[in-house]
Amino acid sequence: MTARIRFEPDGIETSVPVGTTIRDAAEGAGAQLGSACGGVCACSTCHVYIKEGGEDVSPLQDNEEDKLDGAFDVRPNSRLGCQSELLKDRLYVVEISRESRQAFLDEHPAARPKV
Ligand code: FES
Repeated sequence: MTARIRFEPDGIETSVPVGTTIRDAAEGAGAQLGSACGGVCACSTCHVYIKEGGEDVSPLQDNEEDKLDGAFDVRPNSRLGCQSELLKDRLYVVEISRESRQAFLDEHPAARPKV
């Protein structure tokens, strides 16, 4: 089974096997999602807003909630991309938070816009 995911604001779309995390889907698609701790729930740089499909991702766990407490601009649909598995064969729409985008650019200087 395959989950489809679209990353905003860039509109990058990809398909991944059900069970894949948002972080891994972003990495495979080249979406600008930060991942400072490598996906072990030890930071909040993979902070995303799930705009469609939030009911069909793996449930929020206590340790993820603790890390989200330290994130910026937390909203009801906030999740950590590395802890959120796409569980259904459907389309998900995910907005990458500003802090996550910035973390990605900090980790990948070559991807920064030229000025
Ligand atoms: Fe660090 Fe997700 S990459 S918590």
